[in-house]
Amino acid sequence: PYPHFARLRRDTPVCQVDPGGMWAVTRYADVMHVLKNPQVFSSAGLQRSMLPPWLDHNPVAHSLLVMDAPQHGRARALVSRAFGPSTLARLEPVLRATAEQLVSALVARRTVDFLPALALPLPAAAIGHLLGLDASLYPRFKRWSDALGAVSATAASDLEGQQHIRHTIEEMEHYLRDVVEERRREPREDLVSALLQARVDGEALTEAELMAFLFLLLVAGFETTVNLLGNAAVLLADYPELLARLRSEPALVPSFIEEVLRYESPAQSTFRLTLEEVELGGVRLPQHSVLILLMGSANRDEAYVPDAEHFHLERPQRGHLPFGHGAHFCLGAALTRLEARVALEALLPRIQSLSRGPEPLQWVPSIQLRGLSRLQVEVRPA
Ligand code: HEM
Repeated sequence: PYPHFARLRRDTPVCQVDPGGMWAVTRYADVMHVLKNPQVFSSAGLQRSMLPPWLDHNPVAHSLLVMDAPQHGRARALVSRAFGPSTLARLEPVLRATAEQLVSALVARRTVDFLPALALPLPAAAIGHLLGLDASLYPRFKRWSDALGAVSATAASDLEGQQHIRHTIEEMEHYLRDVVEERRREPREDLVSALLQARVDGEALTEAELMAFLFLLLVAGFETTVNLLGNAAVLLADYPELLARLRSEPALVPSFIEEVLRYESPAQSTFRLTLEEVELGGVRLPQHSVLILLMGSANRDEAYVPDAEHFHLERPQRGHLPFGHGAHFCLGAALTRLEARVALEALLPRIQSLSRGPEPLQWVPSIQLRGLSRLQVEVRPA
C-alpha cells in the first residue's frame, strides 16, 4: 500500500474514496489534527457501523473505542486503574515461560509457519490470562476476533456470515460471563476482579460496560500484537545484519520494536465521524462525513519523518502514531511492547538466522490491519 499512500499524500491528501463514500486522510499533520480534536471528529458516531440492522447485540458497540466525552473519560478512568503496571507485572512471568516453551519447540522443528509457532500463541496467552479464560479456549481467539472484526464488512445478503457472527458473540459471552460470575463470588488478584472492584467517584462499571471492555480486549489486543510479531520476524529474515546486531546488542530490542511499529504499523487506520462541517487539509468536509485516518501512511510521511521509507534501527522515535493519539490512545501499548520484547528476548539468543521460504509474502487484504496470513521460515539454531 505504501507507494499508493505516498501518491495520495502528495496529490490528494484528503480525498473521498468513492463518490459519496468515506474520506481518506493520509498526511501526518492532518491525522494528528483529527485525533487532537475529538469534539469535532467523533468516535461515538461510528457505533452504528458495529450495529448493522441484522445485528441487535454487539458488546463492542458499547466499548471505549466508540465513546466520546464525557462518557469516554469516565469509563476509561475505571478500566485504566485495573489495567495498570501491576497487571503487567503479574503477566510478565507467564509470558516469559510461554515464550521460552514456544521458542524451544520452534527451534527444534527448524521449518515452521512463524504465526502459529509463536506470533499467535503468545498474544493468545496474554489475553487469555488477562481475561481469566481457560487455556483450552486460546485456539479459538483468532476465530473470535475475526468474527468481531468482520461485523461492519458483512453484507446484508450474507446470511451465513451473519449467523456465524451472532453465534460467536453468544459463545464469547457464555465464557466471559462465567469468569465474571466466578470473580464476583471469589475475587482474585486479576484483571476481571479489579474491573469489578474499580470505582471512580463511587461509581462502578455497569455490567454492559464491563462486558464491552472484555470484548474490546479481544478485538483490539489480539490480532494487532500477532501482526507486530509477524512483521518483526519478516524484517529479521530480510535483514540478517539487523538480526546479528540485535543478538550482540539486546539493549536495542526496544528501539527495534518501536521502528517496526512505525514502519509496518499493525493498526493501519482508524475511523472518525465529523459532527459539523469542517475544513481539513484545504478540503471542506460536510457534517457526518466518515474519515479513515491512515496512520500507516502518516507514519511514513516524509514531511514529518525523515527518510521515512527506510527502516532505521536507531531512529529517534518522536510522535509516531502506531497507537493513535490523545483521548483514545491505545490502552494496551505497554502490554504489546512487553509481549514483543519477551518474544524477541526468548528468540534471539536461540537462533543464528531466520530465512523465509520461497513463496512471496501473503499480506492479509485489509485496510485496517497490516499482517500476514502465513510466514514460512527456516531457523538456524544458535
Ligand atoms: C486503542 C493500536 C494492542 C487495547 C487503540 C488505538 C490504536 C491501537 C491505533 C486507537 C484507536 C482510535 O483512536 O480510534 C494498537 C496496536 C497494538 C495494540 C498497533 C499492537 C501492536 C493492544 C493491546 C490491547 C489494546 C494488546 C489490550 C489488551 C486497546 C484499547 C483501546 C485501544 C482498550 C481503546 C482505547 C480507547 O478508546 O480509549 N489501539 N493496539 N491494544 N487499544 Fe490498542
